[in-house]
Amino acid sequence: MCGIFAYLNYRVPRTRKEIFDTLVKGLQRLEYRGYDSAGIAVDGTRKEGNGSICLFKKRGKVKALDEVLCKNDSIYLDAELDVHFGIAHTRWATHGEPSAVNSHPHRSDKNNEFVVIHNGIITNYKELRKYLNSKGYEFESDTDTEVIPKLIKYLYDNREHDFVSFSTLVERVIQQLEGAFALVFKSIHFPGEAIATRRGSPLLIGVRSKYELSRDQIPIQYNGDFIGGVQKKNFRNRVDSSTSLHSVCDRKAVEFYFASDASAIIEHTNKVVYLEDDDIAAVAEGKLSLHRVSRSAGEESARVIQTLQMELQQIMKGNFKAFMQKEIFEQPESVFNTMRGRICFDTNTVVLGGLKDHLKEIRRCRRLIIIGCGTSFHAGVATRQILEELTELPVMVELASDFLDRITPVFRDDVCFFISQSGETADTLMALRYCKDRGALTVGVTNTVGSSICRETDCGVHINAGPEIGVASTKAYTSQFVALIMFALMMSEDRLSLQKRRLEIISGLRQLPALIKQVLALDEHIKSIAEELYQQRSLLVMGRGYNYATCLEGALKIKEITYMHSEGILAGELKHGPLALIDKDMPVIMVVMRDACYTKCHNALQQVTARQGRPIIICCRDDPEITRCAYKNVELPQTVDCLQGILSVIPLQLLSFHLAVLRGYDVDCPRNLAKSVTVE
Ligand code: F6R
Repeated sequence: MCGIFAYLNYRVPRTRKEIFDTLVKGLQRLEYRGYDSAGIAVDGTRKEGNGSICLFKKRGKVKALDEVLCKNDSIYLDAELDVHFGIAHTRWATHGEPSAVNSHPHRSDKNNEFVVIHNGIITNYKELRKYLNSKGYEFESDTDTEVIPKLIKYLYDNREHDFVSFSTLVERVIQQLEGAFALVFKSIHFPGEAIATRRGSPLLIGVRSKYELSRDQIPIQYNGDFIGGVQKKNFRNRVDSSTSLHSVCDRKAVEFYFASDASAIIEHTNKVVYLEDDDIAAVAEGKLSLHRVSRSAGEESARVIQTLQMELQQIMKGNFKAFMQKEIFEQPESVFNTMRGRICFDTNTVVLGGLKDHLKEIRRCRRLIIIGCGTSFHAGVATRQILEELTELPVMVELASDFLDRITPVFRDDVCFFISQSGETADTLMALRYCKDRGALTVGVTNTVGSSICRETDCGVHINAGPEIGVASTKAYTSQFVALIMFALMMSEDRLSLQKRRLEIISGLRQLPALIKQVLALDEHIKSIAEELYQQRSLLVMGRGYNYATCLEGALKIKEITYMHSEGILAGELKHGPLALIDKDMPVIMVVMRDACYTKCHNALQQVTARQGRPIIICCRDDPEITRCAYKNVELPQTVDCLQGILSVIPLQLLSFHLAVLRGYDVDCPRNLAKSVTVE
């Protein structure tokens, strides 16, 4: 999905090269979201009066854009700018093919008077375009976004008074827009000013007001207090050229970082403000002010500065080839972090702080509805059976888009869970608003603090898996799985008849990180299986019961990063169609664990071998009856039936990773896909 990054330095001297580097680095941190082109807008050289804005846009990777910037000799890279605002964007094509002209920033006119970066979709862009066309504004791209800079210029050109503030113009623009957006504006008419706003797409602003020293800077003190630094090479000049030390000290140096997600900001500052829908954030003269469009004039929005807990190291690849691989190997810790402080293994109690005040209401509900997309939906499928068993409530598991398409009846006494790694998925968010409107209690299960789903639900659980950068979700799945199991355990605390089962599961959870490590140790073996399979066109993954979700999730991982056709098949459905696919050439992976479905899975296995199928079997250790039938097998440690899916999905995550590498694909940025799907 598109990515926004912008950087404003106020009284913090930066060379143009440093500004480019900051913008490019910001875009690189957003690459994982998926994109097909990138662009940047910075101040050009000053002419008389207003400054100019230069645009650099390129189809392809951020690296290609960076090369364009480095080679460009029309712009003086060593020039030092005391105050500057630069904006940058990675585009994921929706309206119009990936190309330089369709990529952002989009501009108002050939002089680049207003430039804009946008995430989201403007649904009424055709009407706006027609109107602006009729007023003589010419369009150059096929995008929905281009109406925005044209519209702001139109409003500027037709202003009633000579002076109109930048934020008033933006406010008038967004009153005309329908759809979803996060926007950042820059203009030659308002040099050094930045305006950011959002509706439905995430946007946050990082603030670094205390000047941290880099290696080539020397500290400046004022009245004995450290207040900033200047570059060594510039220090002498400044003092010599009559800028007294006092006036250098007096400056209030501040930097602002605007981004569509925190991973682009964290290396600069952990102090952030999350914008809410219809907030307009304006930075002028180094001061950030916020107001909400619908509020009465002049009223400021109260938004707290939050401190991000994320560490830079958490979003670095380390020794791994890809973020996805790193995240697969992080699962012993991420799963442990999901349980940390929530399960007390000494007293066998589970407390989810975000839910405990709502427990009574949840226990009284008519049914639980679990809603998500993709992998997050699979986490619901994986835990449905144990939720039904331990809560003794009917449980529906729904794909958000289908749930909305059906206009599914929802009632005040329903409890609806919204599962989402990013907390920003448009379909899930819309389903949340739909359920809220009907009076249901809404519960968020997300991995992103401050995300829209987090904020809009009545209560929730943060899965604490740490940032997930690879587009293919891995550690978020196992942590969502564990979070839902913990919820089921909390719900059944008072049920005497369920105590034995609860204790068995709690003890299984305790062992889980160690067992995950044992599964990860099979990596080389799984790689050797990938080496046999990587030239195949298709791969079936079959299982049932607790491991049906494993098959769906495994097949999704394979198709999304290897581009092989892959299908997760419920073994109970084999005779109703899929058996026709089986022959000696069709690769089939079967998940056969020692649980209530064991015999039925064994039968399915025989159906496959009877048709010369050569199954690769994921099974429990020491099961000769099963491994005898296998062409290859992956033997896993055994755990409690309802937790086994956490272990059995890992070989499929690893397999998909190795298949993608062998097929030569970019594991972290699969084609056509985005990490955070903020459009329908
Ligand atoms: C698959 C994958 C997607 C997401 C889906 C929902 O690997 O990552 O299927 O699971 O787009 O995203 P979230 O969980 O952010 O709502």
